[in-house]
Amino acid sequence: MSARNTPTQYGWITKSLHWIIAIGLWAMFFFGKYISNLELGPDNYHLIPRHKAFGMLLLALITIRILWRVTNPPPAALPAKPMEHLLAKLVHTVLYVLMLATPFFGWIGSSATGFSIPFFGLFDIPLIWGEDEKVADLFLMLHGYAAMAMTALATMHILAALYRHLIIRDETLRRMVR
Ligand code: HEM
Repeated sequence: MSARNTPTQYGWITKSLHWIIAIGLWAMFFFGKYISNLELGPDNYHLIPRHKAFGMLLLALITIRILWRVTNPPPAALPAKPMEHLLAKLVHTVLYVLMLATPFFGWIGSSATGFSIPFFGLFDIPLIWGEDEKVADLFLMLHGYAAMAMTALATMHILAALYRHLIIRDETLRRMVR
């Protein structure tokens, strides 16, 4: 199987990045919701740096994914109504924006709390905002909203893929899996 996309097929790099990031983002959404509802104490405090480290890892993978997408065009779209093409393009573009914005808002908000962002105990990720409670509150709130909007859109994206697979019975889902 080719590493790069061809005019008719996705390469293995695109497929791997797609599925690793998809699973990672869903897991991070539930992880984030879980920690934000916890009574934080010495037993579970380590979960926040864990959430931040996995989030930064995903931000790196998403950046690679976008650079790969720009330098490696996807295969031609399969036949569909013009409205469906337009909607798919819109959902994909907004998904890319939210995939970047969600961890980026988390990074700004977390930096503004003044707490460090350790990367699995290996090194500290630079803070990109000075300590400021208002900025921390604002960006962590935006972080939560962006994560919710992204999850809602990802659900639409999954339903559209299932519709094409089960009702239209075309190659849309199969060519991202096989
Ligand atoms: C990569 C994708 C990420 C997703 C999908 C995600 C998702 C979430 C969600 C759903 C929440 C709960 C929001 C709420 O209900 O109020 C949350 C909280 C949080 N996230 Fe993320 N997050 C991601 C990355 C990051 C990154 C990169 C950082 C920082 C470097 C970060 C820092 C935080 C912090 C500090 C909280 C608040 C925890 C608390 O309530 O004490 N997140 N995240």
